[in-house]
Amino acid sequence: MDIDELQAEALAAVADAATERGLETLRVHYLGRRGRITQELKGLGRLAPAERPTAGARINAAKGALVAAIDARAAALAQGQLAESLAAEAVDVTLPGRRQSGGSLHPVTQTLRRIEAIFVGAGYEVVTGPEVEDDYHNFEALNLPPHHPARAMWDTFYLEGGLLLRTHTSPVQARVMERSAPPIRIICPGRVYRRDSDLTHTPMFHQVEGLVVDEGIGFADLKGVVIGFVHRFYDREVPVRFRPSYFPFTEPSAEVDAQCVHCEGVGCRVCGDTGWLEVMGCGMVHPNVLSMSGIDAGRYTGFAFGFGADRLASLYYEVGDLRLFFDNDVRFLAQFG
Ligand code: PHE
Repeated sequence: MDIDELQAEALAAVADAATERGLETLRVHYLGRRGRITQELKGLGRLAPAERPTAGARINAAKGALVAAIDARAAALAQGQLAESLAAEAVDVTLPGRRQSGGSLHPVTQTLRRIEAIFVGAGYEVVTGPEVEDDYHNFEALNLPPHHPARAMWDTFYLEGGLLLRTHTSPVQARVMERSAPPIRIICPGRVYRRDSDLTHTPMFHQVEGLVVDEGIGFADLKGVVIGFVHRFYDREVPVRFRPSYFPFTEPSAEVDAQCVHCEGVGCRVCGDTGWLEVMGCGMVHPNVLSMSGIDAGRYTGFAFGFGADRLASLYYEVGDLRLFFDNDVRFLAQFG
């Protein structure tokens, strides 16, 4: 092939090269150690000495033209690639940023903190007790000897070795009285466990126990504290009533109702058309309970109360299903931020 034709063919191929790799293949094909132009240079020796200078100059000119064309094409391809990746990786600085959403306290925690603040403000001490409890403190020390039929009031999770998951926070009453002398004024918030699960019951829930023991404590003190608390909790003077009830560890015992926060006493689905919502159990501490824990029942009297904090939270926030508090669905929890 004539050198002019070879040059034309090579330049056309270079102009057509679409990738840097394709271009490199062409370079090897024409200019490599055994490339076609290199072969032409090596073939100079076969020419007559007089022809060599002209032929050599011609081949070198073709080589120079090809090298220049390859360099120019390489630069153009690199440019194109850069432009392409710039376009692909472009950052739109006008897009809104990704928001960090702030967490918040669980609604039950918020409720417990409000309750604690109310009682601490009234001079109560906040104490805690074990969730894995022994039979003695959960029942016997509360005037519920073995086989007492009222044990059926609590659907208990029993563990091995005479232990159980406490069914209420009342055992903390006994534990506090065992280790301290009157005047006693405590609340005990904490988890309790019962075999129960429906719209208004979860197997684990939170109670707050209250206990006051001193000389001259009477039912009027209990009523004052309970009514005052309910008013503070709901931030308004909700009507409150006491109904006679029974707990083995208090005598007399009562259940406390607050007027339905939903219908304000008219009667609705939330209160089962009664206009009232049960909010806690309470009573005067039974003398047996005082003396079993080492308190002189001849000298001291006391009152106790216990209520479900989750239940108060569900009424306060108007949440229909108590189980929502424990599903940990962020869409639910985020509403209490
Ligand atoms: N411990 C009782 C319950 O869980 C509530 C209660 C506490 C009643 C203190 C009276 C006094 O149902």
